Amino acid sequence: MKKGLKIFAILLVAFITLQFWKPEEIEYSTPTKDLTNVPAEVNTILRNSCFDCHSNTVNLAWFDKITPANFIVASHITDGRKALNFSDWDKLEKPKQSATLFYAFNKILSGEMPLKSYTALHPSAKLDDRSIAVLKNYLATIAVRKPNQEIPSVTHPKDVEKVLPNKKITDYSKVKPTLNNISYIPNFRNWKAVSTSDRFDNGSMRIIYGNEIAVKAIAEHQTNPWPDGAIFAKTAWKQKTEADGTISAGAFIQVEFMIKDAKKYEATKGWGWARWKGNDLKPYGDNANFDQECISCHNPVKNNDYVFTTPLHLDINKFNIYNKTK
Ligand code: HEC
Ligand code: HEC
Repeated sequence: MKKGLKIFAILLVAFITLQFWKPEEIEYSTPTKDLTNVPAEVNTILRNSCFDCHSNTVNLAWFDKITPANFIVASHITDGRKALNFSDWDKLEKPKQSATLFYAFNKILSGEMPLKSYTALHPSAKLDDRSIAVLKNYLATIAVRKPNQEIPSVTHPKDVEKVLPNKKITDYSKVKPTLNNISYIPNFRNWKAVSTSDRFDNGSMRIIYGNEIAVKAIAEHQTNPWPDGAIFAKTAWKQKTEADGTISAGAFIQVEFMIKDAKKYEATKGWGWARWKGNDLKPYGDNANFDQECISCHNPVKNNDYVFTTPLHLDINKFNIYNKTK
């Protein structure tokens, strides 16, 4: 018994001594604003489950401050912030914000985040079914419109026909290829519109077209991966408000393509990436690696074969684009 006490005393002294050994001080308590353009409900969930490791506002439990737990906590926070820091939210451009949220939700739905070791000790950070449903619903609103058979009247092709690019260009073969050597595809206008953008808030209107192979793949639910030969075109116009308040397509901004060929485009994630800008269809990019920019922004949806657009007539709640086994 006496011996037991002695050991206990030694351990206690060691433990107390250990407490003088602390990880390097990191920023803990700078308040983080709610994420702009994100509903309050979603903010609450992220703040509750993610901010401890992904923002400069950390709510430590008493046991998080004890050595050696504090070292683990500090390393989680440092690594977590490096990967994603919600305190820097306003520094991201809007499309990047959406892409980040897609990516973050992907991590939640796949069960990778929040870290299991963390929720074991902080059960309140666990996401319940209701929170997941809230996130999924929100995701559906920031995703491009769940496509329906009809294109909304504001982006009706007739409207758009007036402002299609290159009215002056009569010979499309004169349009220069991109620096990664992709030739312009003029006939995308005859393809089916598979989606339009729901968000006119940045003053642009977008339509996403799919070629025959893409449309067939959608019908057959063979969209992950997309088959070779599938092509998407995404067009963007400035939004114009008419005198009577209706919205129509203004100046043509650009058209972008993603061309699937797993072999040919192996080095660029299986897709050929191309963009032409303005009415004179100038190829975008300063060098042949411009497509890295495309890939980095599409990377959040890599589990969806790098495609953002949720295929036609699929209910996002039933069809889980995050399901890796799909
Ligand atoms: C206990 C700390 C902790 C919590 C809580 C936490 N994360 Fe993380 N997270 C990390 C760490 C550490 C990394 C970097 C290492 C890694 O990728 O595993 C990371 C990485 C990430 C990444 C980038 C992954 C990558 O592959 O680049 C995303 C996105 C992410 N977390 C989202 C979230 C979301 C969303 C939540 C809340 C639901 C959350 N995390 C909660 C610690 C945490
Ligand atoms: C800033 C982020 C970002 C960059 C950079 C980016 N994209 Fe996208 N792209 C998106 C988002 C988000 C969508 C989903 C539709 C929408 O909201 O407009 C999308 C959709 C598309 C689509 C329609 C298919 C799909 O994934 O839904 C094509 C085609 C496309 N992008 C091509 C490109 C090409 C080519 C480049 C590079 C020249 C590029 N993108 C660069 C964010 C980006």
